Amino acid sequence: MLLNKKIAFIGGGNMAEAIISGLIEKKVVDPCRIFVSEKRLERCEYLQKFGIYCESDDCFGFLKDADIVILAVKPQNFDDAAKTLTDLQPGTLFISILAGVRIAKIEQAVGTSIRVVRVMPNTPALVGEGMAGISAGTSATQDDIIITKYIFDQLGKSVVVEERMLDLLTGVSGSGPAYVFYCIEAMCDAAVTLGMSESQAELLVVQTFKGAVELILKSGDKPSVLRQKVTSKGGTTEQGIAVLDKHNLKKIFFDAIDAATKKSIELSNNG
Ligand SMILES: NC(=O)c1ccc[n+]([C@@H]2O[C@H](COP(=O)([O-])OP(=O)(O)OC[C@H]3O[C@@H](n4cnc5c(N)ncnc54)[C@H](OP(=O)(O)O)[C@@H]3O)[C@@H](O)[C@H]2O)c1
Repeated sequence: MLLNKKIAFIGGGNMAEAIISGLIEKKVVDPCRIFVSEKRLERCEYLQKFGIYCESDDCFGFLKDADIVILAVKPQNFDDAAKTLTDLQPGTLFISILAGVRIAKIEQAVGTSIRVVRVMPNTPALVGEGMAGISAGTSATQDDIIITKYIFDQLGKSVVVEERMLDLLTGVSGSGPAYVFYCIEAMCDAAVTLGMSESQAELLVVQTFKGAVELILKSGDKPSVLRQKVTSKGGTTEQGIAVLDKHNLKKIFFDAIDAATKKSIELSNNG
């Protein structure tokens, strides 16, 4: 699907690298058809290890030539990057992964002849276990969505949603890895305070998270069913869960996701 396509990236940071390495590892794109415009010379040199073409100054040539352009700069660099977007060839598929930059703003910068798709990925994409939300711009076609989904499915999983859902998706899967890291951190801290060594605590907790997730995926059971299965009456787990209930864990997560979603809306409105 992508083998004959020329793909250009604007910004060659962490996310661009995750996408590039995912596509090359899965052999779905020829590295010599990937072009990156990256401001930092040392980053350019680093990215060349993938066998791709990376340029730190002039990117107009290859942007004009690209079938797909992926914008991967920080949101605050959007206005600066937008200056290079006025010369895109009509018919280019333009994918933005910028958090908090709405489709309408992107379409205004690239012009009406460019088909825009907005994507919200997350950091586990760096290890091929990402979760991305994809939203179609005004003139994006079904094929554009299929191609975008194909790209992000190489880095994990993806769902297609209306743009208005991207703020909530940001609060759930965009910020989600940090909530998981925080839970792991909290469980490790508790184990250490109660007498375990740091390395053992980390091994136990991380493997427990990994094992629990694998069990959900492989059993096909809902998390609530699996939780009930391991919570025997009068047992140890029941005691632990009772404490989590007393502190209203579900409400804590509701508030966290709600706050992150509201912040995403605020950033998008001010962006
Ligand atoms: N990381 C995540 O988990 C995550 C999750 C979801 C969405 N995103 C989105 O992904 C985007 C990229 O994030 P990232 O973590 O990959 O950022 P990053 O590591 O900072 O990479 C961006 C790179 O682009 C360079 N750059 C800035 N303006 C440029 C321009 N006009 N032309 C060419 N290169 C330019 C930057 O150089 P300078 O540093 O010199 O500016 C930097 O090296 C962000 O918009 C973010 O919202 C990231």
